[in-house]
Amino acid sequence: MPKVIIIYDTVYGNTRIAAEAMADGVKETGLQVEVRHVKDVKPEDVTAADPIMMGSPTHAGALRSTKYGILRDSRRLEDM
Ligand SMILES: Cc1cc2nc3c(=O)[nH]c(=O)nc-3n(C[C@H](O)[C@H](O)[C@H](O)COP(=O)(O)O)c2cc1C
Repeated sequence: MPKVIIIYDTVYGNTRIAAEAMADGVKETGLQVEVRHVKDVKPEDVTAADPIMMGSPTHAGALRSTKYGILRDSRRLEDM
């Protein structure tokens, strides 16, 4: 069964709340889902998951976190 991963970054907590709400919706479909802060994600976690969902606050018009390099490290950007 596919395992969904929802990766988020947050400063004030709003994106975490949104990520958890999305996870509740995914669970209702019967799929397995894991919610992780981007700093707690390893490349192999991303490789093992399908699909990947991501959330980040916008800071100065861009993703807040440079930690989204996790996608590059897991080589999943090649799939997107
Ligand atoms: C330093 C800073 C820069 C921001 N820049 C933007 C921006 O360029 N565009 C935008 O729509 N919101 C911007 N925001 C608002 C945040 O994206 C918004 O508050 C976000 O929901 C916070 O998410 P969080 O609670 O998960 O940290 C900025 C907030 C901060 C603190």
